[in-house]
Amino acid sequence: MTMRESLPRWQAGTFNIMGIGSYHEPVLAAEVLELLVRMPGVYVDGTLGGGGHSLAILEALERKGFLADSFLIGIDQDDHALQAASGKLSGFSGNSAIVKGNFSGMAAIVRKICGERNFTGSVAGILLDLGVSSAQIDTPERGFSYMRHGPLDMRMDPAAETTAADLINTMSERDLVTLFFRYGEEPRSRSIVRGIIDYREKHGPLLRTEELAGIIRTREARPDRAIKTLSRVFQALRIEVNRELEVLEQVLADGASMLSAQGRLAVISYHSLEDRMVKSFFTVQSSSDWGPRGVGLTEPLKKAEFAVVTRKPVASGQQELSLNPRSRSAKLRVLEKLA
Ligand SMILES: C[S@@+](CC[C@H](N)C(=O)[O-])C[C@H]1O[C@@H](n2cnc3c(N)ncnc32)[C@H](O)[C@@H]1O
Repeated sequence: MTMRESLPRWQAGTFNIMGIGSYHEPVLAAEVLELLVRMPGVYVDGTLGGGGHSLAILEALERKGFLADSFLIGIDQDDHALQAASGKLSGFSGNSAIVKGNFSGMAAIVRKICGERNFTGSVAGILLDLGVSSAQIDTPERGFSYMRHGPLDMRMDPAAETTAADLINTMSERDLVTLFFRYGEEPRSRSIVRGIIDYREKHGPLLRTEELAGIIRTREARPDRAIKTLSRVFQALRIEVNRELEVLEQVLADGASMLSAQGRLAVISYHSLEDRMVKSFFTVQSSSDWGPRGVGLTEPLKKAEFAVVTRKPVASGQQELSLNPRSRSAKLRVLEKLA
């Protein structure tokens, strides 16, 4: 048996990162399995991507003897991801469904699929592995990366209306500055946006990633700082194009409300804006209501219905970091619905 054959199927894909061409390496997969897969029921992967986490969850359910009473629903808004995942999960087609959609509509999707499949189990686990996949970043035509030449697109759902170019070319100077400050936390927002406005006036609409990257580089000459600035500005545009924080707020509320007793919601975030939102949502959900300060109640007005499982966010270990550098900013937090 070769080393690759001796690994679980989701982990065997790790070898592809060396250049054979995998869609996406699932991040913190072992940690997700340990914290999420603990009983039979419905599992929802709201960010299916290439299906790496979903396959790992289905394999874990099988190993633990839970598969017969379990069903996994994988959701993604990107048709390319759905295609990649459907091949990966083909061995589990009786226990899984793949759905195109935004995870902000998760509750309705789960109700519909469980109804169609006559599956009455309750929701035991939800996974959100936020952001974009390696395949999306590495495909120049998707326009996500300042390192690739391509159209300024950045839509996760290729059928969505608004592209990054639409925003860059139609937003006012003031709104762009606000966007880069708010979603990129970029201190040089004013100067970069001035560069964009000058460029628009001189050359017409900005349509390519390399045009935007060129403007940013002229505003931040120090190469060590330029990379951070580039990633912050590209991040801000991506968040706005895909309404990422808006849909995250919605899915956290819906996801928590769908969980059965002892069901868990696991979220992997990749930047501080997402992580802050997840952390503060988990804190609120796991806090009892003791009324106004100084009232001195002995029982809370309302007991917390959830508990935070991960007091500190779980991060990748050395081995994963060396195999998959993209895991470096990942933070996993898990919330549990109390009985
Ligand atoms: C980091 S990747 C997930 C990779 C996946 N865990 C795997 O193992 O391959 C994030 C995926 O979530 C999808 N996605 C992000 N936000 C979404 C949303 N609001 N609704 C549906 N899919 C979303 C993206 O299109 C992308 O394919």
